[in-house]
Amino acid sequence: MRIGILTGGGDCPGLNAVVRGVTKSALKHGWEVLGFREGFRGFTEGSYIQLGDHDVSGIIIRGGTILGTSNIANPFSYTLPPYGTPEHPADLSDIVRDNFKKFKLDALVAIGGDGTLSMAKKIHDMGLPVVGVPKTIDNDLSATDVTFGFDSALTIATEAVDRVHSTAESHNRVMIVETMGRYAGWIALRAGIAGGGDIILLPEIPYREQEITDAVLQRRQRGKKFSIIVVSEGARPEHGTMTSSRIVKGSPDPLRLGGVSYKIADMLDRSGLDMETRVVVLGHVQRGGEPTPFDRWLATGFGVCAAELVAEQKFGYMASFRSFGFTSVKLEEAVGQLHLVSPDSQEVRMAASVGTCFGNSSLVKPY
Ligand code: F6P
Repeated sequence: MRIGILTGGGDCPGLNAVVRGVTKSALKHGWEVLGFREGFRGFTEGSYIQLGDHDVSGIIIRGGTILGTSNIANPFSYTLPPYGTPEHPADLSDIVRDNFKKFKLDALVAIGGDGTLSMAKKIHDMGLPVVGVPKTIDNDLSATDVTFGFDSALTIATEAVDRVHSTAESHNRVMIVETMGRYAGWIALRAGIAGGGDIILLPEIPYREQEITDAVLQRRQRGKKFSIIVVSEGARPEHGTMTSSRIVKGSPDPLRLGGVSYKIADMLDRSGLDMETRVVVLGHVQRGGEPTPFDRWLATGFGVCAAELVAEQKFGYMASFRSFGFTSVKLEEAVGQLHLVSPDSQEVRMAASVGTCFGNSSLVKPY
């Protein structure tokens, strides 16, 4: 057998551990492995390397992806030269079909988030043999309890929340730590809980400005002269919109979020609280560097699971982790519907019960 493997969308810690897991399992089965460069770009344009044991040896601890990735290359709406432009995207379905034949592929393993897995599903709908692996720091994929990359991002975000405590306290300041996460607030929620954030603002719980200033004021009245706000990049005011940082032409979801924390800082400055505010936007620091032990473990399991799906010819499925075990789910269950934080979930209410403010008391009730 001959299989292809690619990493698509934004990178995250643990990608190399999956590539290693798939490749080592495949080699044990006696298969050949082609690693396509830069996600679906390499697949459509025919750029790959043949992966042997030496290529994947020692990469479990490395961040990023040895294959490279692209969050623009979509074979069904290709905006890159020589085939298309953002203005005139090309449908390269025929090239995808031909390339399975040309590279003599018995299967393709696509590692990615919602965008990449949606492309994988379309390829499977064309009758081609594909399996998926769920990647993203945002942890926003349905049909798996957790995605790899999330724990590493969470660890970095929590360390940042921990670190700003001492400087906030020394200066009697409000420190705002902004996390990534796109439309899902998981990183901010868990880093906020783990780091003891006083106020946590999430896309799923539109905030009321007055409740934020009240929470800071009440802490001050209790003798706590500083406050830590952990805000997800997708957070928005109750009657407002999310904060866009840029538009990436040709990307499956062109909107990039970021900067809401500066708006909150301005609001606090104008509120008459008379406290200095500082902002820390964590950005891509959350996606860089080595994966945590949990992510290395999870990613290895996902890689082996994906190779077994291929061995069983269970195409159109994605490796998944549920109730502390590896399993598989249909790609159609995994894409389309994002896994978001529920305001009445146990963990949100638990945080509210220890006094965390979510900026909207009509949506969040403590126990
Ligand atoms: O989906 C992962 C993610 O890091 C999001 O949390 C973030 O909004 C986005 O990607 C950033 O994308 P880019 O790397 O294109 O700036």
